[in-house]
Amino acid sequence: MSTNIHHDTPDSLFTLTEPEGAPDTDDLVYHALCAASDFEEGEGKPFHIDGTHLAVFREEGKFHAVDNRCPHMGYPMSEGSVRDGVLICHWHHWEFDLKTGGCFLAFGDDLKAFPTELRDDGIVYVGLAAGEKKAARLRVIGRGQRQLVQGLKDRSPFLIAKAVAALRDAEAPARQIIHQGLYYGANKTNEGWSSGVAVLAIAANMWEDVDPADHNLFLVHGLTQTARRTTGASRRPRTAFPRTDDEHSPDQLERWFRYFVEKRDTGAAERVLLTMHDRDYSKSDIARLIFTTATDYYFTGSGHALDFANKTFEALDYVEWQGAEEILRPIVVDLVGRTRHEETSRWADTVPVLEGIFADLDGIWEANRANDAELDIPAFAQTFLMDDYAELCAEVEQKLRAGVKPTDICRAMAYAGAIRTARFHLKNEGDWHDVANIYSYAHALYRAFHYADCKELLRGLFHGAVYMTMLRWLNMPSARIPRPGQRLEQEFESPTAMLEQLQEFADFQKVFEAEQLVSQYLEEGHDVTALKRTLAHITLREDAELHMFQMLEVAYRHFDLTDDPEEQRMHMLAATRYITAQKVMKNILWSTENAERLQRGDLLSDREDDN
Ligand code: FES
Repeated sequence: MSTNIHHDTPDSLFTLTEPEGAPDTDDLVYHALCAASDFEEGEGKPFHIDGTHLAVFREEGKFHAVDNRCPHMGYPMSEGSVRDGVLICHWHHWEFDLKTGGCFLAFGDDLKAFPTELRDDGIVYVGLAAGEKKAARLRVIGRGQRQLVQGLKDRSPFLIAKAVAALRDAEAPARQIIHQGLYYGANKTNEGWSSGVAVLAIAANMWEDVDPADHNLFLVHGLTQTARRTTGASRRPRTAFPRTDDEHSPDQLERWFRYFVEKRDTGAAERVLLTMHDRDYSKSDIARLIFTTATDYYFTGSGHALDFANKTFEALDYVEWQGAEEILRPIVVDLVGRTRHEETSRWADTVPVLEGIFADLDGIWEANRANDAELDIPAFAQTFLMDDYAELCAEVEQKLRAGVKPTDICRAMAYAGAIRTARFHLKNEGDWHDVANIYSYAHALYRAFHYADCKELLRGLFHGAVYMTMLRWLNMPSARIPRPGQRLEQEFESPTAMLEQLQEFADFQKVFEAEQLVSQYLEEGHDVTALKRTLAHITLREDAELHMFQMLEVAYRHFDLTDDPEEQRMHMLAATRYITAQKVMKNILWSTENAERLQRGDLLSDREDDN
């Protein structure tokens, strides 16, 4: 079914409607239930008619039918009791008007009530509209969306998980749940792109890499992190400049944008960007400006500015630029507020070297466009691991002048990032984020060249090269990597048994054993989709943080980009090492599982907690 999105207030931004109009609820069809004499006074009876669950009561000789699922947590209303016309749910004691379904709690949703008839044949009938099934679905979706906003405001993983379970059960498209989260996350923060909206964007990108049974869990991760990074209060609204017959030139607006970012004036830069969006600048023009500004400074925010710029455009494409006036804004905060590494003492020595290269950016760009050369990606990945940044930058410049595609250099950088991660020694524990940053940065730069193939972006290659050399200490000592052909002593009955063992190794943080198993699995040629889904499951069942999701996404995408088995193996080893070495908590998993149980109508008291 196709749906429309309507922009409303920020809190209830997206409402689903049927394109062909509201379902027909006037045209009632009466269905026989049972003999009136079978009803006990005040006692509920459950019925199920064509997908509609009913609780029917007799009180003082009259019959009343309501939806059998409590709007609070789905407990069967037929188990409830009636006192003086008040229907009481027996789980958390919400109270409803039996006749109309109205909820006595100020914040509670109403129960849907249905008309009944006692006919001459002594049978009780209930009237259901022809469009009742559709109407019920839209009621659930509307309630789920309200619940989701509440869960986000309350920062409650359980409320969020309940909303997600209800929405997905009613077949609300995942795209719209992600869209709602992205919009909320952008609208409710004065900070820049956060881990929450980034995880939501990654969920959109990795949807097919994740077992469908884990899809809800992925959404809950992204939404919960979004809630934690927002306050519930909206940002100060900012709009495009008023329209005029004498509009500013594109050059003027672009100059202003870069000027106000330079001056660290977020509000002014936001207004210029919103004006460009309002004046229908093309997606590629806006991308070129954002990526240019992200590389005007050295490795801004340890690469996060460029990384989140890429996520901004991926997210906007995913939602077809609907709500772009909000979703575009946070990246300005990242561009303005994050560390410019040329201002740090750590990078001070690199400035003369890099500025020397950037002085002839035009020449490098022209040579690159005029020439054409292949890159041996595995060999250049090794080059990226050298110690001397000046030497490495000279190598990168030489490849660019020879006509190597910038995206191939990004791939080599990502491959080197995978090796840095796989060789990351556990004694460096506190520095895990650094290897994740360069790995994710290399991928973001690869993607950025697809959005905005421009000379300014070449600077990002040199920023990444410098940072890569700074990470060499993280491979000292260098962790061992399973040798090609190395096997575990254990015998496995099937590839499935191998993946089960992988989960157990992860549970016990047996990092090297997990890597050996993944290496063996790949070399034996087993199903890669199943491996990707297992690694994603291992990540999702923990309260994973952003970098873990980034590692998975980059590993999977760069695995897919190459046919070289060793390059593929290294990407998977990097992801395996990163996610198994870090033990976190399982609260999001438990909230999601509980919400799914409730959605199915199971009782939490039946839960066995031995898994
Ligand atoms: S009050 Fe009905 S399920 Fe909680």
